Amino acid sequence: MCGIVGAVAHRIVTPVLLEGLRRLEYRGYDSAGIAVLDDSEQLQRVRKQGKIKALETALETHYAEGKIGIAHTRWATHGVPSERNAHPHVCRDTVAVVHNGIIENHDALRRKLMLKGYEFESETDTEVIVHQVHEFLEAGLDLRKAVLRTCAILEGAYAIAVISSRTPGRLVAARHGSPLVVGLGESENFVASDIFALVGETQRFIFLEDGDNVELTTETVQVYDRDQQPAQRPVHETKLVVDAVERGEYRHYMQKEIHEQPVAIEKTLDGRIRAGHVLDAAFGPLAEKAFDHIRSVQIVACGTSYHAGMVARYWMEAIAGLPCSVEVASEFRYRKHVVPPGTLFVSISQSGETADTLAALKEAKHLGYVHTLAICNVPESSIVRESESTLMTRAGLEVGVASTKAFTTQLTALLLLVVALGKRNALSAGQEAKIVKELESLPEQIRHVLRLEDEIQAWAEQFGDKQHALYLGRGAQYPVAMEGALKLKEISYIHAEAYPSGELKHGPLALIDDQMPVVAVAPNNELLEKLKSNLQEVHARGGQLYVFADVDAPMENVPGVKLLRVAATDEVVAPIVYTVPLQMLAYHVALIKGTDVDQPRNLAKSVTVE
Ligand code: AGP
Repeated sequence: MCGIVGAVAHRIVTPVLLEGLRRLEYRGYDSAGIAVLDDSEQLQRVRKQGKIKALETALETHYAEGKIGIAHTRWATHGVPSERNAHPHVCRDTVAVVHNGIIENHDALRRKLMLKGYEFESETDTEVIVHQVHEFLEAGLDLRKAVLRTCAILEGAYAIAVISSRTPGRLVAARHGSPLVVGLGESENFVASDIFALVGETQRFIFLEDGDNVELTTETVQVYDRDQQPAQRPVHETKLVVDAVERGEYRHYMQKEIHEQPVAIEKTLDGRIRAGHVLDAAFGPLAEKAFDHIRSVQIVACGTSYHAGMVARYWMEAIAGLPCSVEVASEFRYRKHVVPPGTLFVSISQSGETADTLAALKEAKHLGYVHTLAICNVPESSIVRESESTLMTRAGLEVGVASTKAFTTQLTALLLLVVALGKRNALSAGQEAKIVKELESLPEQIRHVLRLEDEIQAWAEQFGDKQHALYLGRGAQYPVAMEGALKLKEISYIHAEAYPSGELKHGPLALIDDQMPVVAVAPNNELLEKLKSNLQEVHARGGQLYVFADVDAPMENVPGVKLLRVAATDEVVAPIVYTVPLQMLAYHVALIKGTDVDQPRNLAKSVTVE
C-alpha cells in the first residue's frame, strides 16, 4: 500500500508534504518520512517508525525545509516496520525515492547493485530503485532518463517520485500498476497517490495513465506516455473538499461512524426512491439501457465489501430472480472465466482504490460482460473512473479502518440495484413498493438498534478474556455473521470465525466449550426454527450463547443463554439492521482490550497492493 506525495514550489513545501501524508494515512501507518532539497541543495531526510504524528514531532527538532520534496507513509511489505525501512530511501546523499507498490525482481537487482558497490541499508524492495537511478545518473543520464531506464528493468507494480541534488528544481514521477495523480498549482506543482492528499492545495488534477512518467518544475508539467512520447492528459477540476472530520462527542471515529448510519442510509436513498419505486435514473443513462438486457450478475469485491456482495446474492436470486455469483477479487482476477451472455459486472468498494478489485474490473472489461457498474463511496476514485456506470454510496468520509457505515450503505445501494433489475424480471409492482417502504423505514430501525448500546456494552465485558469466538447465521444472515466476525478480528484481535449454523455439526462443534462465546443472529424468518435447533446443540455442549433476535421471534429466555431483542424487522432489510449490533459488540470488546480502534495493528484503510 503506502501513500506518496511530492511538491515543487517557490515556498517551503514541508507543511504541504506533511498535510498530504496526514490525508494519506489511511493507506498505511507503519512509518513515515520526508526528504527535501534545502537552500544549499543538500538532501535533508527525516523518517520515523509509527504514525505521521511521530514524524511531525521529529520535524520540530530536525531541520528539513526545502522548496522541493517527497514524502511517504508506509504499510510494510518487504521488511519490518522500522525507521531503517521507512521511505524516502536515499543513495549517496544524491537521490531520494518514495515508492508505493511491490518490486518483484528486487532480489536479483539488489545482488547486481551490490556487486557494483552499492550498500543497502534497508530490507525493502524499494531501495533497489534509488541505487539504480543513482547508477544511471552517474552514467550521465539526466534525472528523467535515469528514472525511465530504471523503470524499464523493474518488475511489479509501482508509483514512484524521485528528487536529486543533481537536478534541484525537478521532480520526476512514474507509475505502473499503482495510482498517481499530478496536482496543478500556480507556479507550483504536486504529485500524490490520490487527490485527497492535495485537495488542500489545488482542485486541478491530471490522472496519470499506466506507463506514464512526468517531470515537474514550478512552471511546467510534462507527461510522457509508455512510448516516451510527450502526452496530453485531460485536466480534471474536482469539487471535492476534504474537511477535517471531527470525532465530536465520540471516543473513536468508528463509534461515530456506527452512529452516522441512519443519516448515511438516508443520503444513499435520497432522490433514488419515489412513490413506491426505485428510480432507474439513480444508475445513470448507460446502466438504465444495459439493465434491460441483464440475465445474470457477477459481483466482485474484497473484505467487508465482499460480505455486502454475498448478502446481495441472496437478494438477487430471491427477489430479482436473477442468477448471481460473488467472488473475492483476488481470486477472480487470476482465474479463467465463462461469462454467461447478458451478465452485469458489479464491483463494490468503499475506497475505489483496492488493487485486487480494480484489477478484477480491468480484467472483466475484456471478458464480454454487458456492462460494468461500481458501487463505491469515493467519487473520482480509480474504480469509479474505470467503470461504465456508478452508484455512489454517499456514506461520507469513513476514517475508521474497520468499515461500518460503508457496509450498510453498500447494502442499501445493492438493494436498490436488486429492485431495479428485479422489476425487469420477477418482481411485481406490489413487491417493489413493499421493499421501498422497508428501505424508507430503515434509518429509523437502525436508530432503534443504536439505543441498545448499553446492553451490548455489558455483553462485551464477557469477551475481554476470550481467545476465540464463533458467529452463526443462516441465509442472508450468514454473510452478516461473517462481517461481525471480521469486525471482532480487526479491532479486538480475537480470533473469530463465522459459520452458516447448519454447518456446525460438520466440524466446528468440536470447538465448543465454556471458553467459546457463540454469537448468533436470529431474525424472525423461515429458518428460525432450524437456527434454534443449532443453538440448542451449542447450549447442550456448554457453549456461551449470545443471541440477537427479533422482537417477535418465538424464543424463550433459557438460563445461560443471553438474548437481546433487536428489532421487529422485515426479512429483506434484516441483514442491514442486524449488522449494527455486531459492529457495536466488536467496538466495545476492542475498548475493553484497549486496542487502537481506528487504526488497528497491521492494517490500512485502503489496500492498494496485491
Ligand atoms: C473492512 O473493515 C476492512 N478494513 C477491509 O476488509 C475492506 O473492506 C477491504 O479492504 C475492501 O476495501 P474497499 O471496500 O475499499 O475496496
